[in-house]
Amino acid sequence: MIYFDNAATSWPKPPEVKEAMVRFMDEIGANPGRSGHLLSIEAARIIYDAREALSNLFNVKDPSRIVFTLNATESVNLALKGILRPGDHIITSSMEHNSVMRPLRDLEKRGIGLTVIPCSPTGELDPGDVKKKIQSHTKMIVINHASNVTGTLLPIREVGESARENGILFLVDAAQTAGAYPIDIEGDRIDLLAFTGHKSLYGPQGTGGLVIGENVNIQDLTPLKHGGTGSRSEFELQPDFLPDRYESGTPNAVGIAGLLAGVQFVLKKRTEPIRQYETLLIGNLIEGLREIPGISFYGPENLTDRMATLSFNIKNLSPSEVAFRLENEAGILCRPGLHCAPSAHKTIRTFPEGTVRLSLGYFNTLEEVHLAIKTIDRIARSNS
Ligand code: ALA
Repeated sequence: MIYFDNAATSWPKPPEVKEAMVRFMDEIGANPGRSGHLLSIEAARIIYDAREALSNLFNVKDPSRIVFTLNATESVNLALKGILRPGDHIITSSMEHNSVMRPLRDLEKRGIGLTVIPCSPTGELDPGDVKKKIQSHTKMIVINHASNVTGTLLPIREVGESARENGILFLVDAAQTAGAYPIDIEGDRIDLLAFTGHKSLYGPQGTGGLVIGENVNIQDLTPLKHGGTGSRSEFELQPDFLPDRYESGTPNAVGIAGLLAGVQFVLKKRTEPIRQYETLLIGNLIEGLREIPGISFYGPENLTDRMATLSFNIKNLSPSEVAFRLENEAGILCRPGLHCAPSAHKTIRTFPEGTVRLSLGYFNTLEEVHLAIKTIDRIARSNS
């Protein structure tokens, strides 16, 4: 079996992720920050260590400004719904996933102005186009760091600079990049960073978080949830300090133990070499597929402008038929269709059929890439 669906979730995980989760279940198991006994303190320490490891990765000075959520979608919802009010205006790109588009369309119905900047057919965003659309009531800009459809990297640093110059909050959806591409919350001028734990941070599903930058006044960010935090139990009002203001209810502590091990793996390997290796894989895949007749590619040509995710189509074959044949003929697992990103597919002109998406990860090999090229070549030729 060849797993080329890392943009959906990474697999396999480094063995230490499972080991950390089993250790948590076998030896700790308690509720963090609640009971004050030995095991509860140990559980809380693991969660704190995870915040600290993530702070090292993203260059966050105060680990308490990282709040845990279930996934990037919850983090994006917290940031958007917690800050925007009727009368505010927000700018986004046409390459967004529905985790950004759906909350924005919902907010639009509630009186928030929305501008969607069209990207190029390769999914690229011109930061100048964003700048031109800034208005006096623009409160926020939200874009993904890289498209889950084409792997196209968006120019977050340039957009972040425009946002900062104009006193606008900048939210980045890093679901496709956290761990696989360097992110520096200070250098990239990010105010809010939504990340998932289960992709290139190698944690389990059901982990993610939101980094709340120093520029965000937490009084302006309403929690999505209210409830027990293990702190200030004498009050019926939600605590007004970080991270408790946004972390009600028993957390996914076993998941966060796994996420900590995943982030430690990334810190040990370092993001740059991970990126270099994944770029080598995708570069070889693109080179090999280029030779095959009847193939269309989507996304940027230049490897520096993309992640290791590739969308393609074979003439006269539907994406789901190609995916079916890849799995049946060579055990290659991928994701066909619209990838929960209809706007991105409209941008690259593949709506409504979608594309076949191959998303590579750190545990793939060149051998697997070459087998995929051979199989796709056979499928394309058998159809021509
Ligand atoms: N958003 C994830 C994907 O692209 C799940 O497959």
